[in-house]
Amino acid sequence: DWVMDNFIENTVAALREKIGDKKVILGLSGGVDSSVAAGLLSRAVGKQLTCVFVDQGLMRKDEGDFVEQTFTTMFDMNFVRVNCGELFMSKLKGVTDPEEKRKIIGTEFYKVFWNEIRGQAEDGFFAQGTIYPDRIESGKGKSDGKANTAVIKTHHNMAKMPDDIQFLGVIEPLGDLFKDEVREVGEKLGIPHELVWRQPFPGPGLGVRIIGEITAEKVKILQEADWVLRDEMSKNGYESQLSQFFCVLPGVNTVGVMGDHRTYDNLVAIRAVTTDDFMTADWAKIPYDILAKVSNRITNEVEHINRVVYDITSKPPGTVEWE
Ligand code: XMP
Repeated sequence: DWVMDNFIENTVAALREKIGDKKVILGLSGGVDSSVAAGLLSRAVGKQLTCVFVDQGLMRKDEGDFVEQTFTTMFDMNFVRVNCGELFMSKLKGVTDPEEKRKIIGTEFYKVFWNEIRGQAEDGFFAQGTIYPDRIESGKGKSDGKANTAVIKTHHNMAKMPDDIQFLGVIEPLGDLFKDEVREVGEKLGIPHELVWRQPFPGPGLGVRIIGEITAEKVKILQEADWVLRDEMSKNGYESQLSQFFCVLPGVNTVGVMGDHRTYDNLVAIRAVTTDDFMTADWAKIPYDILAKVSNRITNEVEHINRVVYDITSKPPGTVEWE
């Protein structure tokens, strides 16, 4: 509607005014908020914008490529993708504790991110996709615009910008919007449906959907199974009825049979929930025929999976994620 049209027009004008001929750097995660912020900034200042996308190798199948493809072909900007899957895998070797995994992934993520933008900072602004509820949650009002006091928006916890990185200021173009308004702006800017309507995806990514130690092989198996689930849900038009759905790899082998062979291979679990706020959630009553199709396809199409189970636990007592 016209309210959001006005918002875009006014924000683009204000961004141009504020940024002038300086540069802007934005950390792009592929989530809704940073994607929409990127779209707005691109419209305002084009190539003066650099988006830095750190791919830790723990995203869903083809997701990193999709993000890169979208922002390099549809929007005017500099796009930097830092692939550090191998680094993350080596740091995570042998680590099984969920919180330890989260800590390592978070710490390494910011090391890589700050290293990438250090040196590019001096003469520019730092932008992020903070939205109104983030500001309320963090107990901080609108950023005062000073870079060195910026609270960096992260997944679930707030990181501080290192002292040796100095920007001219912080820009939060979505700071007054709610999620549904952000989505509306995103649609108007032509950001693909997949990004605008993306489900929440945890910062540690598939790292907390592989129970216990993470290995490259497990990541691959989980990505393939999860891709089949998403494909089948979207083909059935069931996608938009759920708040979140995904596969989990518990790292458990069970006995199965294939032809006249005995198999001993991975179990994969499907998790799907409906919820308003993610504080509580109901397990989703996906129709049996869809579950049957998903199960058949996963066991047929994904190597090293011989059994599929469905998680029928609500929150509480279960959390949405398994770790
Ligand atoms: P839980 O598992 O706590 O999940 O019921 C509630 C919502 O939060 C997401 N989640 C995370 N998001 N970093 C994130 O950015 C995390 O470490 C994390 N853990 C859970 C989860 O996907 C769900 O949407």
